[in-house]
Amino acid sequence: MKKKLVILTGAGMSAESGISTFRDSGGLWDKYRVEDVATPEAFHRNPELVLEFYNIRRRELVTVKPNEGHIGIAELEKDFDVHVITQNIDNLHEQAGSTNVLHLHGELMKVRSTKDESLIYELPVDKPEIKIGDKCEKGYQLRPHIVWFGEAVPMISEAARIAEQADIFVIIGTSMNVYPAAGLLDYVERNVPVYLIDPQEVRTSRFDVHHIKKGASEGVKELAMRLGEGVIG
Ligand code: APR
Repeated sequence: MKKKLVILTGAGMSAESGISTFRDSGGLWDKYRVEDVATPEAFHRNPELVLEFYNIRRRELVTVKPNEGHIGIAELEKDFDVHVITQNIDNLHEQAGSTNVLHLHGELMKVRSTKDESLIYELPVDKPEIKIGDKCEKGYQLRPHIVWFGEAVPMISEAARIAEQADIFVIIGTSMNVYPAAGLLDYVERNVPVYLIDPQEVRTSRFDVHHIKKGASEGVKELAMRLGEGVIG
C-alpha cells in the first residue's frame, strides 16, 4: 500500500516557470489592487478590466512550461499515492504529469456561465480569452472559473478530508496567508511529518515543520531524496 503524500502548493511552485507570485516584491498584488480585479464587486463594477486581467494571465500561461519542481512531484507518483492540493489556477501540475490535482481557487483555462455554474468550458490554447458578449449555451455572460476574494471555496471540504488522511504533508511555495487554504495544515494528524519547501521563512501553525529552504525545483529533488531514504514518512 503506497503512503499518501499530500502536497499543498502556492504561487511559489510556479515562480521558476516564470509566473509571478502575489506577495513577493514585484508580485501581482504590487501591480494590481485585489479589489479592482479579483472580487465579485470588481466584476460587477468593471467587467472589462476583470476579464482583461485574466486574459493577460492566460496569454502568459500558454507560453510557459512546468519546472523541475512540477516534474519531480509528478514522478513521486511512482512510489506514493500523491494528492496535489493547489491554490494555483495554472495547469502546470497537470502538464507535468500529476494525475491527482485539486484546484482550491479554480482554473485559469476554464470559464463558466454567470447564471448556471455547472456550465464550465475549457478555453483553447490558441484563443485563451473571453470578453463581454461571450455567452454560455443558455445565453448568459461567461466569467473566469476562479474563486474570487469573498466567494466560497467549494473544494475546501474535499481538501480537508485529503489532508486528514495524509501520511506525509508537504507545503511548497505558499506564504500561508490566505484562508481557508492555509488552514488545511490544521487537519493534518499531529504525528504526520510536515515538510515546507520555500526560500523564505514561512510562519505556520506547526512548530515541528521540516523546512527545506530552497526553491521548488531544488527543494523537490531534496524531498524526493529524503523520502527515498525512508528518512521521513
Ligand atoms: N520556490 C518555492 N517557493 C517560492 C519561490 C520558489 N522559486 N519563489 C517564491 N516562493 C515563495 C515565497 O517565499 C512565498 O512564501 O512562494 C510564496 C508565495 O506566496 P504568495 O505570493 O502569497 O502566494 P500564495 O501563498 O500562493 O497566495 C495564496 O492568495 O492572492 C491569492 O488566490 C491567490 O492563490 C493565491 C493565494
